[in-house]
Amino acid sequence: MLNHLIERLAATRARQASWPAFAQRLRAHGQRLLDELHPLYGERADFAQVAEQLLQVAYEGWRDRSPSLRQLDAVREATPDWFASEQMLGGVCYADLWAGGFKGVQAQIPYLKELGLTYLHLMPPYLCPQPHNDGGYAVSSYRATDPQLGSIDELRSLATQLRKAGISLVLDFVFNHTSDEHEWAQAARAGDPHYSGYYWMFQDRAEPDVYEQTVREIFPDEHPGAFSQLPDGRWVWTTFHSYQWDLNYSNPAVFTAMAREMLYIANLGVDFLRMDAVAFVWKRQGTPCENLPEAHHLLRAYNALARIAAPSLLFKSEAIVHPDDVVSYISPEECQVSYNPLQMALLWNSLATREVNLLQYALEQRHQLPAHTAWVNYVRSHDDIGWTFADEDAALYGINGFDHRQFLNRFFVNRFDGSFARGEPFQDNPLTGDCRISGTAASLCGLEQGDVHGVARLLLLYGVVLSSGGIPLLYLGDEVGTLNDHDYAQDAHKAVDSRWLHRPPRDQARYAQRQDPASQAGQLHAGLRHLIGLRRHLPLLAGGELSVFWTHNPAVLGYRRGSVEDGLLLLGNFSEQPQRVAAHVLAGLPAQAQDLVSACGIALDQDLTLQPYQQLWLRLQA
Ligand code: GLC
Ligand code: GLC
Repeated sequence: MLNHLIERLAATRARQASWPAFAQRLRAHGQRLLDELHPLYGERADFAQVAEQLLQVAYEGWRDRSPSLRQLDAVREATPDWFASEQMLGGVCYADLWAGGFKGVQAQIPYLKELGLTYLHLMPPYLCPQPHNDGGYAVSSYRATDPQLGSIDELRSLATQLRKAGISLVLDFVFNHTSDEHEWAQAARAGDPHYSGYYWMFQDRAEPDVYEQTVREIFPDEHPGAFSQLPDGRWVWTTFHSYQWDLNYSNPAVFTAMAREMLYIANLGVDFLRMDAVAFVWKRQGTPCENLPEAHHLLRAYNALARIAAPSLLFKSEAIVHPDDVVSYISPEECQVSYNPLQMALLWNSLATREVNLLQYALEQRHQLPAHTAWVNYVRSHDDIGWTFADEDAALYGINGFDHRQFLNRFFVNRFDGSFARGEPFQDNPLTGDCRISGTAASLCGLEQGDVHGVARLLLLYGVVLSSGGIPLLYLGDEVGTLNDHDYAQDAHKAVDSRWLHRPPRDQARYAQRQDPASQAGQLHAGLRHLIGLRRHLPLLAGGELSVFWTHNPAVLGYRRGSVEDGLLLLGNFSEQPQRVAAHVLAGLPAQAQDLVSACGIALDQDLTLQPYQQLWLRLQA
């Protein structure tokens, strides 16, 4: 079938300058595309037409790719592990909140370079409904930007400037749903049968009722269940908010239309697409409609399409689900990188319990990834913290998952003795007992409460993120310890969503203090820059290989990168008490090591004491 399709396309395009290279790419990757499409649409009589249309879209994407991006394609294809480097450091921000828009971000490039960033994720900058748009995750057009941020040309020029500065631009591909103001949704609402088929629309409650027996509620505060009713009585699938309509990928026209949008975004000069809400993109009755096998075929088909038409484009998976499901999206043929929500949640868990057992276990059992893929490790994102550890892992330590989540929620909203955190509940659901946590990293670490250990706690979390393997991601503002924005509750449009607590505007005062060693902001900034600087000079931190080092102290985390003769041993104390690691545990290591954090020599042939929340980066050399 592939050869036949290539011949058909060649009939009309063979004379175009872009064709020969495209035909070559098609021969290399086209079969994989067809193989992934087949389980989705292969039963249809018009499968060949579907495939041909898609290849046309791919050709147009390739044709429109700029010479400088094609150059980058060649470089990246020759170095598929480029993102595993110790030089990689990600940052994420809202262009408007952090910098006042695209031009403001451009003006911040020197600061981003000073921090050492090589990757910048701008929260979705696309045209979206006002005032409710789920922080930009309700997209009305993938080809236009929110005018408050700037124009699409300014975004394109920002991408170019970032690339010149060695910084990859990361944008979202919000492909599970569009906003209800997208032109497709507007046509569907008006009753157009073609566009009604782009969404999951039902005349009555019969089918929605069946689906709702097996799907979970994601934003129960906004609407119960998974559907919303339109004024004409029809029901439309809305996993998240009523203004976010789920796309119906069982209709191949949707796959093709979104492929076109994907390549458009790629051609702006985007290196990574953050694949939003991957778990939800395929639905089938009688299932949870999450993590279905078809979702993987769909992602792999888009991946194959990228190899054909936008070769340097990589995917980052956003799957905030059970850890077994999180890894199921990660492979060179699917999403090359992925958020590591388990590590994120367990970092916070360890701060609350002062025990590293679950984190250590996860590093031992769940950290290893396939070749040519990487974790994106992070402390906080723009979303809530959900306690997505595996109950079966917790049970190994005698911990009941449900009860433990209740404890964590109480701890992080400061309703537990010994809590230093100032968080708020998100989507507290009394029916199921589910609840997640909002709050900035600094406020959850105790800086808001004025806790003396706040700075060291936050540095400890970032220390793990920077050294455990993969791409570390900094939530911009954390480097100066930005606190919760309690004003969100005064804004009627934000008050309904506590995630705005940790999406504050740029804190000018804190940024102004960042060189002042007497201030919290200054201590954090200096401490974090120091850790970032260490990482950049340690090639052994590249990649993801890691060996767990059991410290036999419940509060002290340990792991090694590299070898005992030439490596780095990281030890971290997750409690406010000094903690000891016994000499016999350290036997087998060199007798002496340099702690890179304090630049002091440390004896390893005797008991070792870590101060509260201290981290040691012990350089092991034979
Ligand atoms: C993703 C985003 C989140 C958004 C949801 C719906 O999970 O991270 O902010 O609410 O998708 O698009
Ligand atoms: C759910 C979804 C995730 C989304 C989050 C937003 O956990 O699984 O995709 O980011 O909700 O709160």
